[in-house]
Amino acid sequence: MQEFRGKTAVVTGAGSGIGRALVLAFAGEGMRVAMADLDAGALSETEGLVGAEFPSTEVLSRQCDVSQADQVNSLADAVFDRWGQVDVVCNNAGVFVGGVIWDRPDADFDFVLGANVWGILHGIRAFVPRMIAQGTEGHVVNTSSVAGLLGAPFEAPYAISKFAAYAATESLAHDLVATGSKIRASVLCPGIIATNIVDSDRHRPKELMTPVTDDQKFVTDFLSSAVAEGMPPSEVAKMVVAAIRAEEFLILTHDSYPKQLQARTEALVARRLPDVAEFA
Ligand SMILES: NC(=O)c1ccc[n+]([C@@H]2O[C@H](COP(=O)([O-])OP(=O)(O)OC[C@H]3O[C@@H](n4cnc5c(N)ncnc54)[C@H](O)[C@@H]3O)[C@@H](O)[C@H]2O)c1
Repeated sequence: MQEFRGKTAVVTGAGSGIGRALVLAFAGEGMRVAMADLDAGALSETEGLVGAEFPSTEVLSRQCDVSQADQVNSLADAVFDRWGQVDVVCNNAGVFVGGVIWDRPDADFDFVLGANVWGILHGIRAFVPRMIAQGTEGHVVNTSSVAGLLGAPFEAPYAISKFAAYAATESLAHDLVATGSKIRASVLCPGIIATNIVDSDRHRPKELMTPVTDDQKFVTDFLSSAVAEGMPPSEVAKMVVAAIRAEEFLILTHDSYPKQLQARTEALVARRLPDVAEFA
């Protein structure tokens, strides 16, 4: 997709961080933007920022829990009803849960897989068939993480969800090409970005709350200080816009990742455990 002006973008997790930056980037490209998030207050703040910076942007804002299929389907219905067409979908909403794999209760996996994996699957199923039926060019960008490509200790729930998000996107991309669709897919694998990701429990449902353990605290403290020095989300959004134009499948935010990916592949080919990722 080369021309963005007048087209429609949908962004989940639009109330904060990378999602908010994507909304602003698409508005800056002259697109209509549908924004969804669990947090209605955060969504209104994003809407306010768009109104201040790009006052002519048409916006649709909807509270939506992406872990729930019916809510994502009704988001899609609302967007197609309003504008009749969707051109770019960013399944971006996500949460972080760390910890040692054998200590994590089901609730941690339910929470993180709900947003990070089911959110993507629901988004694909709600939007892609209708985008294919349009017969136009379009693009789906799913947010995984560099933690979906490279392994590290103390982050099992998140890593499992993000490797799955990567696999979902590669499957989607192959299926689109194999079926002759004009839609393309990219997987966004950010490194450490300055967002509110560390405070993911702010929207965790009460029934999925679990006590914070020492291993989790260790990784959350590490992430907190790293994220404070992280890349601005606006930089990531620029990379996403450029990758859609260039039809790049893999969007990597930091220069050290290609080398680490190469080393990982070499380790796997040699049947060794790959090195621990360096995220910064
Ligand atoms: N910040 C980083 O360093 C980093 C690195 C790699 C990947 N990511 C990924 O980027 C994506 C965006 O995260 P961020 O860093 O901007 O964090 P963030 O917390 O600033 O923003 C995430 C947004 O998603 C929303 N959200 C969470 N669960 C939701 C749900 N079930 N339904 C709807 N909305 C939901 C939150 O309310 C929040 O507004 C996530 O998928 C995250 O895993 C972030």
